[in-house]
Amino acid sequence: MSALQLLEAAIHAAWRERTPQSAAWHERAQAALVGGVSGTVRFFQPYPAYFEGGQGAHVTDIDGHDYIDCFLCGACLLLGHRAPALMDAIAEGAERGSLILNPRHSTETAEMLQGIVPGAERVRFLNSGTEAVMSALRFARAFTGRAKIIKFLGTYHGMEDQMLVGLDGRANVLGAGIPPGAVEDIIMLRFGDEEALRVALAAGDVAAVLMDPSMHHGGLWVGDGSFHHSVREMTRKAGTLLIFDEVIAGFRLAAGGGQHHFGVTADLAIFGKAFSAGEKLGAVTGRADVMGVADPSGRSKGPFAFQSGTGNDTTVAQLCAQAAMRDYAQRQADGGYDKIAALARRLGDGLVATFAAHGLALHANTLGPIVRIFMIDGAADYDRASITNRKQLNLFHLALLTEGVLTIPGSNDFFLSFVHSEADIDAIIAAAARVLRRFDFASAGEP
Ligand SMILES: Cc1ncc(COP(=O)(O)O)c(C=O)c1O
Repeated sequence: MSALQLLEAAIHAAWRERTPQSAAWHERAQAALVGGVSGTVRFFQPYPAYFEGGQGAHVTDIDGHDYIDCFLCGACLLLGHRAPALMDAIAEGAERGSLILNPRHSTETAEMLQGIVPGAERVRFLNSGTEAVMSALRFARAFTGRAKIIKFLGTYHGMEDQMLVGLDGRANVLGAGIPPGAVEDIIMLRFGDEEALRVALAAGDVAAVLMDPSMHHGGLWVGDGSFHHSVREMTRKAGTLLIFDEVIAGFRLAAGGGQHHFGVTADLAIFGKAFSAGEKLGAVTGRADVMGVADPSGRSKGPFAFQSGTGNDTTVAQLCAQAAMRDYAQRQADGGYDKIAALARRLGDGLVATFAAHGLALHANTLGPIVRIFMIDGAADYDRASITNRKQLNLFHLALLTEGVLTIPGSNDFFLSFVHSEADIDAIIAAAARVLRRFDFASAGEP
């Protein structure tokens, strides 16, 4: 057995010993849920943990173990589990009834978005980030009469066919079942490559540049933010729309999201996840003339783009989004965003120091309250980091689970919420030190 195989065997054995109930539930779940889970990223090897509930920044698994939660249900729970304002909104929504035709609360939520999100002249609600991306791309194509979309290598924009290309830094399509034609109009470029962008835009057939301002999936390699400004300028000159996918960055880097953080106003912006703090809601916001393509009244003289969804304005999700936005706005005013960014830096620095104390190289990228680590030395960049020590890193996150810290192996982020404390951060760093003492990462690493 190689050192890496020995490391894997040791960590898997520790996981099995800790989680017999999760193992049993995984056996049972596989007979009912495909693969025992409700989506690809909910699974990890050798089997995932199954959870009972959460409170604040902590969750409890089915074996009764407590974890500091840095997954936050896929980065939704920026206010933590069972946030009091959200519990009140859920109770009120249940009282009002879930589905009402053209409810007053949709207008109220849209007005709040207009107040917080730069450039949100009009709003359309949807059920998820994926649907919001699909709709924004359709609006952009309808408005410009162009088909091509520029997407950056290493970014994730939801699970729709045309977006499942280039997630791993190469121009590969992810998984089977995607018709080749689905990705025909998607141009993949390297994030930060202004020259390639200039050439691609010069053809005059690009409807939109779609960009996650946090470049979260790729690992937060956003540079100093100057690329965001260049893309804004270049798209404006080319008659191409700029779409910010704010599903991760929105309300997380600032109440006004990536647009506020980087000082760039896009033509359209896409929201999900923290927007409704855990309930199911997505949104597209942006310029009134572009969004006008989805106006069913006929008042907008240009082309018409169909967009609809049965659950677009359910009461509970809308009231939760309102409660969450009130909270985010308050925290922006109170310095709450600076505090969680400082916690993230404390975590990143602490992990780097802990690895160094064990003779191991670690690189930490932090952006707002997100930390992403790579087992690579200081000269790291996206290209090297996306291929170096990937397996070791996934095993490190599994090992952290055995020490009571929840991140998802394979995603390898630490998402912090407004309810994480300094004590939680120090406990995560202490857990990392225990992992490095217990398991032999030094022998299993690539140089
Ligand atoms: C940047 C980004 N865009 C879109 C999506 C898709 O959102 P959803 O999972 O709500 O469909 C995600 C999900 O992780 C995301 O990270």
